[in-house]
Amino acid sequence: MRNLINILDLTTEEIEELIAVANDIIANPAKYSEKCRGKKLATLFFEPSTRTRLSFESAMYELGGNVIGFSAAQNSSAAKGESVADTAKTISCYADIIAMRHPKEGAPLVAAMNSTIPVINAGDGGHNHPTQTLTDLLTINREKGRFNNLTVGLCGDLKFGRTVHSLITALSRYSGIKFVLISPEELKLPSYVKKDILQKNNIEYVQTTSLEEYMPELDILYMTRVQRERFFNEEDYLRLKDSYILTMDKLATAKSDLTIMHPLPRVNEISVDIDNDPRACYFKQVLYGKFIRMALILKLLEVE
Ligand code: NCD
Repeated sequence: MRNLINILDLTTEEIEELIAVANDIIANPAKYSEKCRGKKLATLFFEPSTRTRLSFESAMYELGGNVIGFSAAQNSSAAKGESVADTAKTISCYADIIAMRHPKEGAPLVAAMNSTIPVINAGDGGHNHPTQTLTDLLTINREKGRFNNLTVGLCGDLKFGRTVHSLITALSRYSGIKFVLISPEELKLPSYVKKDILQKNNIEYVQTTSLEEYMPELDILYMTRVQRERFFNEEDYLRLKDSYILTMDKLATAKSDLTIMHPLPRVNEISVDIDNDPRACYFKQVLYGKFIRMALILKLLEVE
């Protein structure tokens, strides 16, 4: 039985297979509409979500399956003090596969160790978010057609942004990758990601506080929200929240085929007048997220 806790749980070949299946689902959706008939997905969300939870649920419905679950910790027995381990044992009696989001780093791993059905990490604290990364990789595949030889700017909250940690981890397995890490001093990429991923794999990177400095070099610009819920005090959040706002004039020196991405939700980081620019891909990411999750569910349920 397979789980997806960290993006490295999948080989690059498996990721390519998932992307191929997702592209086939986009081209031939009817072929897949009965594949999960009689199967149940449980979405266990102990933290807010719009896209991740609803794309998982849409994915399961479009495969002909059913969905159970909860969308807030206070609606579950966690509010009475139940452990993640006991919740996982319980849900194993009801469903065929679990997608879990939790504010504590490592909670989905604990669930996987106590579950008899596959567990997917749908975001654990400020740690990882592998299915957002699959979404991002499908987007990069469709926009750029390659994962090699890309200069990728990541901007915003690189400290707490779990989507950033998982995306850097995934792209570090390809060649010719260069990262431009754009953040305020206080929100720099954690040293464990730099050491265990970037330095270990000899990946080229620069750190800067300027959004404009490397703009002309970027193939991809991945904007992120300052993660308010991970801050110890509101004052720091208020001081840092508008550190970077991407506006049309800041794009003046950008490549004409720059791919602008954002995992969403957007707060202020991207001016809404960029939404209609052909380089804006964040709403395409939303759509692709459903298709890659369909492919992932099929793989983990071992459906042919
Ligand atoms: C992200 C998350 O939950 O980490 N959202 C998402 O799943 N698309 C990013 C964020 O909340 O800022």
